[in-house]
Amino acid sequence: MNFLSATLSRVKPSPTIAMTTRAAELKAAGRDVIGLSAGEPDFDTPDNIRRAGIAAIEAGHTRYTAPDGMPDLKQAICAKFARENGLAYAPDQISVGTGGKQNLYNALMATLNPGDEVIIPAPYWVSYPDMVLLAGGTPVTVETTLETGFRLTAQALDAAITPRTKWFIFNSPSNPTGAGYDRAQLKALTDVLMRHPQVRVMTDDMYEHLVYDGFEFCTPAQVEPGLYDRTLTCNGVSKAYAMTGWRIGYAGGPRDLIAAMRKIQSQSTSNPCTISQWAALEALTGPQDFIAANNAVFARRRDMVVKLLSAIDGITCPVPQGAFYVYPSIAGLIGRRSAAGTRIDTDEAFATALLEEAGVAVVFGAAFGLSPCFRISYATSDDALREACTRIADFCATLT
Ligand SMILES: Cc1ncc(COP(=O)(O)O)c(C=O)c1O
Repeated sequence: MNFLSATLSRVKPSPTIAMTTRAAELKAAGRDVIGLSAGEPDFDTPDNIRRAGIAAIEAGHTRYTAPDGMPDLKQAICAKFARENGLAYAPDQISVGTGGKQNLYNALMATLNPGDEVIIPAPYWVSYPDMVLLAGGTPVTVETTLETGFRLTAQALDAAITPRTKWFIFNSPSNPTGAGYDRAQLKALTDVLMRHPQVRVMTDDMYEHLVYDGFEFCTPAQVEPGLYDRTLTCNGVSKAYAMTGWRIGYAGGPRDLIAAMRKIQSQSTSNPCTISQWAALEALTGPQDFIAANNAVFARRRDMVVKLLSAIDGITCPVPQGAFYVYPSIAGLIGRRSAAGTRIDTDEAFATALLEEAGVAVVFGAAFGLSPCFRISYATSDDALREACTRIADFCATLT
């Protein structure tokens, strides 16, 4: 009898683990490796939020809360959705989870049956397809192109929808491309969804606040109120408030779905960390000015990285609207050979050779479902970014 479950066999091991492990091995062996693969801000959690966590401990807020979040935090989340997204949710339409990830997972677990399809535009955040598989559904990935700035077109969405489509997962600004959909681009997609009433929308707005050059973030139920009853609007404090380790995410949606998600959470993890909930309450209700200050730093780094990478022969680097990633194409380098003799026939081969020969750790595009590309996280110091881009340029220049 097999000890491990059949469910587990459907899930692939993370394709990024091998790269991360190799980078760590090289570092441990004394090699100078610049890591550009981290998916988290390099800023510290702001002081007022940290103090709110300490105050929560000192005030004795160390017990269980309601499984999907304490009332004060749910109220603050309702106020946030109303204020920033024009979305009216009541507290019983809110779920607070252990990171944004848990809400997405709960929603898929609560709704998917074998044969149910979930549309995921590629490149995608690595967890979406595997979460769908864990929940017993079928991921249907739809590739985007460099020409559309890695945005899904209305035609491609329409063509992917079948009678078995249960969810469309939408992520703007995107991990890994940083691509953001403006109102017109999103409206083109919501118009398609209005014609297919069986499809629910799971929008992952995790990078809402990390947008540059005056880009205006918008979310599906805001752009098309007709989708309000079939949209789960997911967000969290991890990225905008530099709180990745605190593990608080939240979602607003239809009462029946939120109740189903609560049932799963109450029988699995129970409430997200009580102390972190108090800190998240401060994040959502306290001063917000550091977001603009952080964004100015991110925008400057984005501009520098795009400029340096775009100057490299064989690399095409679109300018992203948000998040802290760039997703350059290396189509112009495929088929070349590195100085050490590695044939660059895939983006994985490129990333491996870049790590081994130039000491720069990036994530290859195949991990996100769209090749030949790689992802750089620019949530690191200007000096490290400048040095990494110089090494990438030098490495590419030696390819023959
Ligand atoms: C697009 C996207 N959604 C969700 C998450 C998960 O966020 P959290 O750390 O709050 O679980 C991430 C984290 O990298 C992400 O990039």
